[in-house]
Amino acid sequence: MRLTYTSDLWWKNAVIYCLDVETYKDGNGDGIGDFRGLTQQIDYLAGLGVTCLWLMPFYPTPNKDDGYDITDFYAIDPRLGTLGDFVEFMRTAHDRGLRVIADLVVNHTSDQHPWFKEARKSKDSPRRDWYVWSDKPEPDDPSMVVFPDKENSIWQYDKGSGQYYLHSFYKHQPDLNVANPEVRDEIARILGFWMELGLSGFRVDAVPFLIENVEPKLADPHEFLADLRAFMTRRKGDSILLGEVNVPYRQLLDYFGDGLGDQVTMCFDFIGMQSAWLSLARGEAEPLAAALKARPRPPKDCQWATFLRNHDELTLDKLTDEERQEIFRAFGPEKNMQIFGRGLRRRLPTMLGGDLRRIKMAYSLLFSLPGTPVLFYGEEIGMGENLDAEGRMAVRTPMQWSSEGGFTMAEPVRRMPDGPFGPDRVNVADQKRDTDSLLRWIQLLIERYRECPELAWGRHTVLDSGSPHVLAHRCDADGASVIALHNLGRTAEDVELKLEGLENYRLTDLLVDGTSDVSEQGVVRLPLGPHGCRWLRAAPAEVPPEDASVKADDSFTHPRRR
Ligand code: NOJ
Ligand code: CA
Repeated sequence: MRLTYTSDLWWKNAVIYCLDVETYKDGNGDGIGDFRGLTQQIDYLAGLGVTCLWLMPFYPTPNKDDGYDITDFYAIDPRLGTLGDFVEFMRTAHDRGLRVIADLVVNHTSDQHPWFKEARKSKDSPRRDWYVWSDKPEPDDPSMVVFPDKENSIWQYDKGSGQYYLHSFYKHQPDLNVANPEVRDEIARILGFWMELGLSGFRVDAVPFLIENVEPKLADPHEFLADLRAFMTRRKGDSILLGEVNVPYRQLLDYFGDGLGDQVTMCFDFIGMQSAWLSLARGEAEPLAAALKARPRPPKDCQWATFLRNHDELTLDKLTDEERQEIFRAFGPEKNMQIFGRGLRRRLPTMLGGDLRRIKMAYSLLFSLPGTPVLFYGEEIGMGENLDAEGRMAVRTPMQWSSEGGFTMAEPVRRMPDGPFGPDRVNVADQKRDTDSLLRWIQLLIERYRECPELAWGRHTVLDSGSPHVLAHRCDADGASVIALHNLGRTAEDVELKLEGLENYRLTDLLVDGTSDVSEQGVVRLPLGPHGCRWLRAAPAEVPPEDASVKADDSFTHPRRR
């Protein structure tokens, strides 16, 4: 496959790294992370090999939902720096070849936003219609309450103006009304502002809520997404929208813009993520294999964003009650580890009992899955959570740079965990010096993932591994093939694969040294250790593996669909 394709459609095999400026690195010694601190860490991120940073909200905020409650969409939270610091950060990131996207949280504002303050003044306020009001809302459907620990309705009575306002999330986050053309224009202006400052796109918060919870209902809610995307494309052809769309696969295609791919460029694969956790809990490939088979192919130029953990709870909402309980039993048996009745507020390494071999296998699996992997900061060093922190804040502790913490010279505003996942045991500085560390492993996975664009771009097939514990899949693009094997089980497995069209080929291991030859009948035996994993590039025996991906007749103008 020609690498030129991967520069035009950069998002299709990007490695995205999500971080919160507030918890990454303090540059001015006040205990809070900031843009100056983050900028000093750019070479760490470039060295890790990630290609795109996703910044969690950095806008002015009362901070009642960790910045997802915004009071000004056109400014920087003064605790994190100034617009000048932001521009210097962008400049430095671009210099190192890193793209940057940011959270776009326009389903709602903070109730402290001047727009809402004005809107709630009276029923006749010129901004009244920027939000969603009702004299007598329909009785609540409890399944629509996203944070059942704090809220019991999605409507809140506003005494002053005598109507209820809609809030899909917390009551301090009134929903904006995108049925109002002025609101839609303002949202485009926000996109335009940050794109002008260099952003390559946005992670769009709560997409289904944004387009569905409006008054009156939009005739075609998806038209709004297509309009936004068209606006962005006019301004900057390679900008993207990465959508938080946690809905079943059959509805998801609508968000890409079925057929056209003209709405959200990428969607997080929430279903695949939940199935991966069920597979990890059972030590069996079947749940994830079934999700991969069921997952629809996104429209041309669109892509799935794959992940194992993010900044929220590990939501298990799309599994059955029984499956969810199975995962709770395996990875979060204590009530304090669970949240909202549907998820876990833990990070991956603690859930896997700190077993480095299993943790490494889980990330190898993530990077081998067809799609664009997204890491949450600290995953690369195996950070754990702080269960003493409130709710989802458990996984949003400061980055652990050194054995002393290294996040700040002052008293950190948020506490790092103690014990086996504290900074004295888990930190960047130590892992940089240790060739067997998780950090070095993730760096290798990123390097190999980038060298194998077939994984992200290719047509993928789940293979029959002959073992219930082993997920085997292959990805083919433009006549080149990469095969990946992951042993979810605790015992060694001897896998025999039938590889159609690769008869007499040689398979070269990409994560360790080694080769295996495919027989004349297309069969190959591949042993795997307990929780073992292998990535293999296939090539005719006379072709060096590094040349197997390039074909002379690849064209610039027609990047292959798959
Ligand atoms: C989804 C975000 O990921 C979450 O952190 C936030 O609380 C809600 N949307 C509301 O913005
Ligand atoms: Ca600071």
